[in-house]
Amino acid sequence: MADHDIRVLDETQVRAAHTLFRGSLHTAPAPDEKWEQVKGTYEPGRTLGAFQDDELVGTAQSWAAGRLAVPGGDVPLAAVSRVGVRTDWTRRGVLSALMRRQLRSFQEAGEITATLRASESTIYGRFGYGVASRGRGVKIDRYRAALLPSPGTGGRIRLVDKDTALTLAPRIYEAAGLTRPGATSRWPAWWQLNLPRAFDENGKLAVHRGPDGDDGFVVYEVKSSSPSGHGNWVLTVLDLVAATPQVWAELWRFVFRVDVVDEVVGDLRPLDEPLEWLFADRRVVKVTEVEDETWLRLVDVPAALAARAYGRAEPVVIGVRDRYLPENDGTYRVTPDGAERTDRPADLALDVDLLASTYLGDVPFSTLAAAGRVDVLDHTALPRADALFGTSQSPWAGTFF
Ligand SMILES: CC(C)(COP(=O)(O)OP(=O)(O)OC[C@H]1O[C@@H](n2cnc3c(N)ncnc32)[C@H](O)[C@@H]1OP(=O)(O)O)[C@@H](O)C(=O)NCCC(=O)NCCS
Repeated sequence: MADHDIRVLDETQVRAAHTLFRGSLHTAPAPDEKWEQVKGTYEPGRTLGAFQDDELVGTAQSWAAGRLAVPGGDVPLAAVSRVGVRTDWTRRGVLSALMRRQLRSFQEAGEITATLRASESTIYGRFGYGVASRGRGVKIDRYRAALLPSPGTGGRIRLVDKDTALTLAPRIYEAAGLTRPGATSRWPAWWQLNLPRAFDENGKLAVHRGPDGDDGFVVYEVKSSSPSGHGNWVLTVLDLVAATPQVWAELWRFVFRVDVVDEVVGDLRPLDEPLEWLFADRRVVKVTEVEDETWLRLVDVPAALAARAYGRAEPVVIGVRDRYLPENDGTYRVTPDGAERTDRPADLALDVDLLASTYLGDVPFSTLAAAGRVDVLDHTALPRADALFGTSQSPWAGTFF
C-alpha cells in the first residue's frame, strides 16, 4: 500500500504539476512566457496530484473532450494527458492511485468513455485502456506520383494566416461532423495547443472554399532533411479535414502541387484512406508503419455498449472483467437491436481493455481469440460477435494530443 494521497489541484498548484510532467518526459520546465500560453489549457478541477506528505510526486490531468463517435451514435468522452510520476517515485503505485481516482471522477461526470495517447504501449492496458483505432504512416515520392485526372470541385484553396486559421478551422471541423467511428470533438484547449504550435514551426493551413463556403482544410509543413536546404524536402500532412470525399481528394491534390518538395508523408492516417486510388500507379503510396492511435477506456460498460449500433447477426453473450471498475463486471447480451446486462452465461469472455479494442470495430473477436486473448466458451459465437461489432469503416480519430 503506497503512502501517498491523491488530491485535486487548485490553480496555484498546476504549474508545479506541469513542471513535474515535463520532467518525467525529460523536458525542462516551461519558461514564464510559455507557461502564460499553456496555463489556460488546464481545465479547472481536472488536474490530479499525488502527494507524499506535502510534496507533489505525480500528476494526471484530463479535458472534457465532448463526444466520441461510435457506430450509429456518439458518447461523452474525457481525454487524458500530462501523466507523469517523479523519477524517484516510480513503481510504487503512484500512477495506479492516480488512474483509480481519475476513473472515478469520469464516472461522476457522466463521461462514459475516456481516451489517451500512450508514450509507451505497456502502461495503460492494466487500467482498462485498449487500442481502439490505429493509423498508418504513408510516404509518396512526389516525382513518381502522377495524379489521375479529376474534374476537381470547382472550389478554391487559399493559404490563411494564424489568426484566421484559429477562427476558421474549429468551425470547419465542427461543420464537417464526426463522420467515422473513433472521431472526437476537438475541445478548446486542443485548438489552443495545436494550431499555434503548427504555425510557430512554419506550418501552413490551406482552406478549401466550395459553393457553400469553407468546407475543408489541410495543415502541413515542409522541412529539408539537411540544414543547408540541399537535402530531401519533405512535406508532412499534419491534419486534413474535409466535409466531402471530393474536398478530401482536392486537398490531397493540392499538397502534391506544392513546389520544392521531394516527398509527401502523413503519419497516423486512416487505415482505409483511399489515397492510392488518386494515382495512376498505386505503388507510389508506401506504407511506412502502422501504429496505435486511440487508447480507449469504457468507463461505463453498460452505457457504452447500449450506445452503439450493431450489425445483423444472432445474439451473443459477452462476459466482461474489469479490475479497476468492478461494477462493469458481468455478462451483456448483444443483439442487432442493442445491448443490455443479462444473467445468461457468457459465450465469450474478455478483459475490459480488449472489449475497448473491439468496440469501435478495430479488431474482430476472432482475431483476439486466435491469439488466445478471449475465453471462447461457445465457438459458434465468434462469427456472430464479429458480425455484430464489425464496421464498414476503419475507426480513426485524427485528433492527436
Ligand atoms: C508511466 C509512469 C507514469 C508510471 O508511473 P508509476 O507510478 O511508476 O506506475 P505504478 O507504480 O502505478 O505502476 C503500475 C503498474 O504498471 C507498470 N508500469 C508502470 N509504468 C510502466 C512502464 N513505463 N512500462 C511498463 N510497465 C509499467 C508497473 O510495473 C506496475 O506493474 P504491476 O501492477 O504489475 O506491479 C511513470 O513511469 C512516468 O512518469 N513515466 C514517464 C512519463 C510518461 O511516460 N508518462 C505517460 C505519458 S502518456
